[in-house]
Amino acid sequence: MAGKSQQYEVTINKDDGFPLILSVNTAPIFQSGRVEGSVSFGRDITELKRSEKLHIDNVRLEHESKEKSEFLASMSHELRTPLNAIIGFSEIMTLGIGGNLNETQKGYVKDINNAGEHLLNIINDILDLSKVEAGKMELVIEKFSVHELLEETITLIKNNAIKHNINIVRDIDRRLEFIDGDKQKIKQVFFNLLSNAVKFSKEDGGKITIAVKKIDDMASFSVSDTGIGIEKKNLNKLFKEFQQVDSGICRKYGGTGLGLVISKKLVELHGGKIQAQSKYGEGSTFTFELPLSPMKGEIK
Ligand SMILES: Nc1ncnc2c1ncn2[C@@H]1O[C@H](COP(=O)(O)OP(=O)(O)O)[C@@H](O)[C@H]1O
Ligand SMILES: [Mg+2]
Repeated sequence: MAGKSQQYEVTINKDDGFPLILSVNTAPIFQSGRVEGSVSFGRDITELKRSEKLHIDNVRLEHESKEKSEFLASMSHELRTPLNAIIGFSEIMTLGIGGNLNETQKGYVKDINNAGEHLLNIINDILDLSKVEAGKMELVIEKFSVHELLEETITLIKNNAIKHNINIVRDIDRRLEFIDGDKQKIKQVFFNLLSNAVKFSKEDGGKITIAVKKIDDMASFSVSDTGIGIEKKNLNKLFKEFQQVDSGICRKYGGTGLGLVISKKLVELHGGKIQAQSKYGEGSTFTFELPLSPMKGEIK
């Protein structure tokens, strides 16, 4: 007769270097009230243990990433306050309000102002990203006019487009009058795509085509350019954070390399998706699709 069994784990170091983990059950065998021997059986639980460890590691990483995001969010607030003083006062100085500056001094102050603005853009991007990652980015859903959204955003980049000799063409589906969404955030996405299209245009200018279509219950926005294009090997890096596609390009054109990462997160918060197509040397098309009405469950 077998007695009460005991369970324990055994790790066996195999010759191939991979440990084998067994869950072993052992029970004594009684014969006429005396222990005569024991019976054991082992079950290979190596895979189970490995996936348990993976799960624990993932939970820990998620926690750390959330802490990191919260830290960045509070740091960014602290950094913005002194920057506002740098930007504000340098602007006042260039206007000559505190006294006249000579041309050299004006040049220096302008450099301080530009550098401050650039730093502020970077901080704003990091703040946005960490907010989304910490799950603190709230969407303010309202019904808004698609036409208004387009024209307000185009106005922001129009002068820059003219300066770069770029023609803007609209191809708008008139059936799409209104959508529900966070207008400010969708504008931010659209602005980033448009400003990229201008920024990465060719030396001699080109064309930007804005197409808006209603596809079933989705609104599709696309921005196509005739610019420098993106190499195939870089296409899948575009939406990944802190992976600049080409640091040479970033240095030449300026920017944080976070615009598309944030755009993707904002689109996904709406329950939509974003993608890029490009032919190197010929141009790129960025398309994002949004549900006409984001579902309640998808709003954070
Ligand atoms: N329309 C485009 N044409 C060519 N390259 C682009 C275009 N849009 C984005 N890219 C590439 O993707 C990178 C990331 O874009 P983005 O996240 O908006 O950052 P940033 O504008 O700050 O550089 C850019 O630096 C550029 O290399
Ligand atoms: Mg950008």
